[in-house]
This record gives sequence, structure tokens and C-alpha cells, in this order.
Amino acid sequence: MELLDAIRERRTVRSFRPDPVPEETVMAVLEAGTWAPSHGNKQPWEFVLIGPATRAGLAERFREILEAGLLRSPELPEARKQAARAFAVDFGGAPLLFAVVCPPATTDLDRYDFPLGAAAALQNLTLAAWEKQLGAIWLSIGSNPLVRELLGVGPDSTIAGIVAMGVPENVPPPQPRVPVAEKLRRLP
Ligand SMILES: Cc1cc2nc3c(=O)[nH]c(=O)nc-3n(C[C@H](O)[C@H](O)[C@H](O)COP(=O)(O)O)c2cc1C
Repeated sequence: MELLDAIRERRTVRSFRPDPVPEETVMAVLEAGTWAPSHGNKQPWEFVLIGPATRAGLAERFREILEAGLLRSPELPEARKQAARAFAVDFGGAPLLFAVVCPPATTDLDRYDFPLGAAAALQNLTLAAWEKQLGAIWLSIGSNPLVRELLGVGPDSTIAGIVAMGVPENVPPPQPRVPVAEKLRRLP
């Protein structure tokens, strides 16, 4: 698959087939993450594979976080609420669940750069997964203290993302993009 095709065709996937992701595929996808750029080549990421016991605890916390936040929103259509609830039961049935965690940052520069480097790794690995016919969703729940506690992440570290991955059961249509011309600003 051409890189630009993967970039344009990748979608966030929220429902998965149960087929397990072979260990060598997991490693190949994560390895693609490690080729991301990072400041000083510090490679500020750790991939934390989430096993069944932790996953159950994470799903429970995910549901609590949703109920306390998104699902209270009066503006959110009922169908979206139902979809969020269904996904949160067990991460859309994804066979693979992992977190990308930054090492502790002790300087302002590292606090700034570590999550950016980890995000670059996340982008790399989701594209590599897509190339291997695997879908993924990048979740923000790692910002929540309940999740940080469960994953044993200390106060100086950031969870850049939690990723559910597997063979897509359903690939959603593209989300609209704002034309680049509207995102462009030129300085004199
Ligand atoms: C940093 C980041 C956090 C995200 N967090 C969530 C999330 O918590 N829940 C979710 O359903 N999607 C999440 N997404 C996926 C976005 O909703 C999705 O990328 C966006 O709607 C565009 O759709 P596409 O990826 O299919 O192009 C996240 C994506 C990024 C990059």
C-alpha cells in the first residue's frame, strides 16, 4: 500500500472481529512506531500491552468516565450515546489493547516534547496497522486519573494514547476534512 493511500484511507475503527492479532504482527506494528522522530532521538514511548485482568478494570473505568462525562451531554444525540456505551462494554471487541506511555519528564522541554514524540509513534503504528488490514482506535481515556492509576503511570508521565486494534468488523465512512487552504496562514 502506498503511504499516501494509507494516510487517506485509514479510518478510526470502533468494532472488531475476534481474530487474534499474531504476535509477529503486533511486534511489526509497534516497531513501525519506534521509527517515529523524537527530540534528541529520546524515543519517549513505552508500549504497554494490556492483559485480560487489566482490560476488565479499564473497561469498568471507561464506562464510569463516559457516564460521568460524555453521556451526560444533552447535545449528544441518543444514537451516539448508545454507540459509545456499546463500544465501552469491551472496546468494540478489539483483540488487542495497549497503551503508549511516555517516560517521566523532568524538564519543560521534555514535558512538551515527550507526548509529541509518542503521538508520532502512535500515528506511525496506526498507519502500519492499516497497511496490514488492521483497524485501530486511539482513545483519550489515558488522561483520566482512574486510568493512570490502573496502569501504574506516575505523575511525571503521560499516557499518549490507549489503542484498541484488530481486524475491522466495520470500517466507517471518512470524517470530513477542512480543506488545507482554510487551515493555512502565511506570515510576512
Ligand atoms: C489524540 C486522539 C484522541 C482520540 N480520542 C478518541 C476517543 O477518546 N474516543 C473516540 O471515539 N475517538 C477518539 N479519537 C479518534 C477520533 O475521533 C478520530 O480520529 C476522528 O473522528 C477522525 O476520524 P478518522 O480517524 O476516522 O479520520 C482520538 C483521536 C486522536 C488523534
